[in-house]
Amino acid sequence: AVVEHTFNVGNLSISQLCQPDRIITAVNGQLPGPTIQASEGDTVVVHLVNESPYSMTIHWHGIFQRGSQWADGPAMITQCPVRPGGNYTYRFNVTRQEGTLWWHAHISFLRATVYGALVILPRSGYPFPKPDREEILILGEWWNANVVDLQEMAFLTGFPARQADAYTINGKPGDLYNCSAPNQTHRFEVRQNETCLLRIINAALNTPLFFKVANHSFTVVAADACYTTPYRTDVVVIAPGQTVDALMAADAAVGGRYYMAASPYDSGVPSGPPFSMTVATAVLGYAGGAPNTTTPPALPRMPEFRDTDTAHGFLSNLTALVLPGRPTVPLAVDTRMFVTVGMGVADCRPEQTLCNRSSTVFASSMNNASFVAPGNTSMLQAHYGNVTSGVYTRDFPDTPPVVFDYTSDASDNATMQYTTKSTKVKTLRYNQTVEMVLQNTRLIAKESHPMHLHGFNFFVLAQSFGNYDEATAAPQFNLVNPQERNTIAVPTGGWAVIRFVADNPGIWYMHCHFEAHLDLGLGMVFEVQDGPTPDTSVPSPPGDLPLCT
Ligand code: C2O
Repeated sequence: AVVEHTFNVGNLSISQLCQPDRIITAVNGQLPGPTIQASEGDTVVVHLVNESPYSMTIHWHGIFQRGSQWADGPAMITQCPVRPGGNYTYRFNVTRQEGTLWWHAHISFLRATVYGALVILPRSGYPFPKPDREEILILGEWWNANVVDLQEMAFLTGFPARQADAYTINGKPGDLYNCSAPNQTHRFEVRQNETCLLRIINAALNTPLFFKVANHSFTVVAADACYTTPYRTDVVVIAPGQTVDALMAADAAVGGRYYMAASPYDSGVPSGPPFSMTVATAVLGYAGGAPNTTTPPALPRMPEFRDTDTAHGFLSNLTALVLPGRPTVPLAVDTRMFVTVGMGVADCRPEQTLCNRSSTVFASSMNNASFVAPGNTSMLQAHYGNVTSGVYTRDFPDTPPVVFDYTSDASDNATMQYTTKSTKVKTLRYNQTVEMVLQNTRLIAKESHPMHLHGFNFFVLAQSFGNYDEATAAPQFNLVNPQERNTIAVPTGGWAVIRFVADNPGIWYMHCHFEAHLDLGLGMVFEVQDGPTPDTSVPSPPGDLPLCT
């Protein structure tokens, strides 16, 4: 079947948190934008009509885009942006995956308000009892400011944009903020003894979140649209870009009301500017009985905001549900990479075009290369036409230029490195198996970077704290049922090992899903060469592909 939508992107006026008539950019006048629901095997067609004042692209986060590489969406990576007044039709198949994914703008900070759910229903039923009800819960951030201005300010000053003014659940901050209003709380009603499938998405720009529901617990059944071994927990931890599907038994009292809450996990050491400790809430209500309107709903006890034990416990305990027909871990590795991930500083002097200050600015990097997207053509166009000169170079390093103590708190300044801005790709032959150690650094600050890979899922073989040591880590790799993901929150001051098969030709962005870090260059790109047949090659571009000129 074909699932078809038109996305009119334009201005939407919203009044919340004492901000009358704030103008945001939104799809079809909705925040969150429309849900796309398809079944595994369907074709999705989305006509993007850009009526906003900003250039726009949409990314379908977690969709592989095999054979539809031109529909992936990151600006200047796989397409030039759709200019104000322009349009573009995204067309792709949802094959070989099911579960909860999402879509978002992939240009500037516009995904702050341009996002929505993308649900792929299974063809042959869930591998768990069918839930009575499903509820999409998109966690997000809200700024009392224009997010494009915020991004431009951050880029000009070289300092990350300020914290959000509120966290949100389905676009609404809930009851616990100054200026909360009754229509700014998401409400969700259940019947007693139902089982609900919660499809939880973290669409926040810069914040990993804890999620809880007062008096209720969960069984996690999927993450990033990959089924997991059922995992019992009363707290869900979810980094920007990730999704979690969790079953919740509605086993509380008829007429009861309970807060669902999202609060920040701050993995930063040392901590930056005063962190927003606020909590977004939604209300879970039980049908029947006399609604109690006098006492407020019960609030869950949220983890402390630096509770790395809880975050790491949740994120590292998940394992894949081994199902017939699912990909298994490739055991032979063709390409090994060891890649540092973190913050640093860029020296502006040799490259005045990239910053407007004569001194140093913050810059993020991978293996000391700070990624900057090309300006005149998309990388996929350059790759497809084989005219890459002046667009990108094929020298992304497999190892860091300097080996140092990556995570020690003491060696901060001694090992400080200056990064340079560049557009480097790592070229892979079709079908190569890649193993990548992602090593977070302690330059400037320790943080848990949520690293997202376009075009693929990867297996997470191991993750822990400190400097990676192959001799002790490799014997611990889970090669039996490792979780499969498209976004890995690399432990703060630690590392993760991922493995994937490059069976999807094209140009694939890998980057930190903190928008502030992406903007500062925390990314790199894989160029995967064509396979032997037309259907293992990048197809010709669609006729309406926007061009940069
Ligand atoms: Cu969800 Cu490149 O992003």
